[in-house]
Amino acid sequence: MLQSECDSVARATDKDYWGAVRALYAVTPDVVNLENGYWGIMAEPVRHEFIRQTNMVNYENTYYVRQRSGADFEGVRIKVAEAVGAAVEEIALTRGATEALQLLIGGYNKLKPGDAVLYADLDYDSGQYAMNALRARRGVDVVKFDLPEPATRQAVLDTYARAIDATPKTRLLLLTHISNRTGLVIPVAEIVRMAKAKSIDTIVDAAHSWGQLDFRAGELEADFVGFNLHKWIGAPVGVGFLYIRKDRLADIDRDMGDEDFPETDIRSRVHTGTLNFATVLTVPVAVALHQQIGAVAKQARLRYLRDYWVHRVRAFKDIEILTPDEVGLYGSITSFRLAGKTSRTDNDAIVAELRDSHKVLTVRRAGVAKGQCIRVTPALYTKEADLDRLVDALAVVTGTKAS
Ligand SMILES: Cc1ncc(COP(=O)(O)O)c(C=O)c1O
Repeated sequence: MLQSECDSVARATDKDYWGAVRALYAVTPDVVNLENGYWGIMAEPVRHEFIRQTNMVNYENTYYVRQRSGADFEGVRIKVAEAVGAAVEEIALTRGATEALQLLIGGYNKLKPGDAVLYADLDYDSGQYAMNALRARRGVDVVKFDLPEPATRQAVLDTYARAIDATPKTRLLLLTHISNRTGLVIPVAEIVRMAKAKSIDTIVDAAHSWGQLDFRAGELEADFVGFNLHKWIGAPVGVGFLYIRKDRLADIDRDMGDEDFPETDIRSRVHTGTLNFATVLTVPVAVALHQQIGAVAKQARLRYLRDYWVHRVRAFKDIEILTPDEVGLYGSITSFRLAGKTSRTDNDAIVAELRDSHKVLTVRRAGVAKGQCIRVTPALYTKEADLDRLVDALAVVTGTKAS
């Protein structure tokens, strides 16, 4: 292990450090919130900045917006580009990852009737919908396949290789870096390389990965990526961005014929209309805090929290952990299922029991080929004692006797 990796592992369990981080968050004491996958609670300094910016924009109205917001938004774009390791010309702000992915998938203009596009069961719903819409929009075949469960790195790679081989007309592939359904982290760069070798372009959904994992845009090796800033970067809800590699801009159409920016400017690929100015103006404070806590430390801490509960419940009666322990295949999110309990009703009942009888908040997830499941997502403010409550609750729910 490198010294820096040893340091980050030690940091993951440093009580003083994480106690100080936890003190940055104000969260309800009414429930242990292990449903931090929807969006991230803003840390207090970010929330204060959001309120300050909201007040400023409301007070100054267009006196501010018409004169100064353009330069401020450009400052935000530069800050985001630097943080994710891209050139500013490769980044355009959006209202979130859904908008980014819709613009990339819908705007990708290289498809011809008769081509095929591919995606997997663990891809995010909005990404799947946008890929399905290509059938009518571009006249392509849309092919969906299932990722293995349980997954291993090799089995995931083999499944993508098989899917690509089975559909030789494939020209576009959707990849979700961290699945919102099970938390599975797929080896994006290897799959992108595999696809490129067959002249297939890849659009990557990094909504859950940047901030949960430590990486820079280029490491994904993909030409088109949709990101989110309101999950693991901790910005206010309503902001994300898309990345298009410099030399690929022409392959994505302007958004609804935008004429505000030249065709050579990536900002012409996003035409949102009036948005929440304060949300965007708060991004630099959120990114600065993310950098101050440290991407490496965050990744190590989130994995530690995940391991903390998973290792304790793995032997519980009837519990199936869907997210593999293999290094690199998980971050904070892990999903489980009780044997045979695959329906919506089954899983809603377990989520309700955890919430109402044990005050532990989780969420049911659908769309996994082998059946529905329950997702558990700790955050930076999660304590070991919170996870002990989950473990105790799962012992009751599964009828596992305390050892
Ligand atoms: C994997 C994945 N992709 C995309 C999104 C959409 O993100 P946003 O809320 O930014 O639209 C989500 C949100 O949960 C997600 O989990």
